[in-house]
Amino acid sequence: MSVPDRSANTVSEVRKGLEGVIAGDTAISDVDGANCRLIYRGYDIGELAGNASYEEVSYLLLFGSLPTQAQLGNWAAQLEPSRAIEPPILKLLDQLPKEASSMGILRTIISALGLYAPDSDERTLPELRQQAIRTIAQTPAIVAAIGRLQNGQRPLAPKPGLSHAANFLYMLHGAEPTPEQAQALDTYFVLLAEHGFNASTFTARIVTGTRSDYYSAISAAIGSLKGPLHGAANRKAMEMLLEIGEHEQVDSYVQKTLADHRRFMGFGHRVYKGEDPRAKHLKALAHRLGQTAGDLRWFAISERLQTAVWNAKQLYINVDFYSASLLHYLEIPTALFTAMFACARMAGWSAHVLEQMADNRLIRPLARYTGPRDLRFVPIERRVAQSAAS
Ligand code: CMC
Repeated sequence: MSVPDRSANTVSEVRKGLEGVIAGDTAISDVDGANCRLIYRGYDIGELAGNASYEEVSYLLLFGSLPTQAQLGNWAAQLEPSRAIEPPILKLLDQLPKEASSMGILRTIISALGLYAPDSDERTLPELRQQAIRTIAQTPAIVAAIGRLQNGQRPLAPKPGLSHAANFLYMLHGAEPTPEQAQALDTYFVLLAEHGFNASTFTARIVTGTRSDYYSAISAAIGSLKGPLHGAANRKAMEMLLEIGEHEQVDSYVQKTLADHRRFMGFGHRVYKGEDPRAKHLKALAHRLGQTAGDLRWFAISERLQTAVWNAKQLYINVDFYSASLLHYLEIPTALFTAMFACARMAGWSAHVLEQMADNRLIRPLARYTGPRDLRFVPIERRVAQSAAS
């Protein structure tokens, strides 16, 4: 019997952080780093932002084409009844520590959604779609409830007839948003709905690749998004603006950050070689909301910081930079910012779970071993401590 050649088809070069490695095929989106373009199923993000609603874009990502009026009506009619938080989930939310991080709570709750679903281990396309509808619809209600509970308020039920974005603002604030506010959040959701094989989406695909379930994949993705180099950069960017406080302080903040070798949050990107194509849309929305509120302070600090960081380090802004002032102008607590990112990305993650499951192969890369070899076993009474751990 021939022995398989384990070295065949292996690539000896190690790419730290998998930089530049193409890890699979996808028809969901194209993150074109060289040309700074983002394409969802053939549509440039500039075509969709401000024209298509999150409901239309989530349909596009999951089903592959923009819905007709009838399809959109049917899609909205499926999302609407799933929007309210289910009673056992509400009970669990009440029991979790209020001081825990919003993303930690969201990760736990999405995982718990799987415990209260009879079909949670089913992986056929129709069942995965049902799981996606339930989760996409319910996440904004869960995030709004987390915000209210952290603020000592009771969660609110969704209001029939409001859009996905308007309903979130209603459930958080207890009052219907203005059309401008609803439109701004809707466009934010559209812009952040999907982004290729980013860290959290790739996490979801790895979990799906083992033929684990939808809820495991999505809760793992939330854990990945929680990191400050990924989704938590929007919260960190707002904390940076708050720390700067006045636009006259921008230059000294930049000098101090450089001297301390710290990172500017909301700047830099692994794939885009210029400005993130989502950033200009978010900037325009933040500007408009600031103007309407009669408070351009956070926008002015952001703009000056954008220029100062460019002058000092030639770093471009990314999606998280103007997301910060936009969400702040919508009076969303900073502690909820990364969970807002998760609300938007729920559609993209779900589409990737479906795509991975439809043409699955276990995702299992190799590692280059850098430790010692050929050590001899030493009985415990003769061992000498070799590491600091006691
Ligand atoms: N501030 C200061 N220096 C930076 C920054 C930044 N934001 N981003 C990159 N650099 C520098 C970094 O110090 C390094 O310089 P040197 O070679 O002198 O040490 C060089 O640029 C390359 O950095 P890297 O970390 O190797 O590059 P990467 O491709 O791994 O980093 C990144 C991508 C997004 C992790 C990084 O730009 C970063 O940490 N940005 C701040 C956090 C942030 O905004 N994250 C959101 C990313 S976009 C949305 C998302 O995915 O969630």
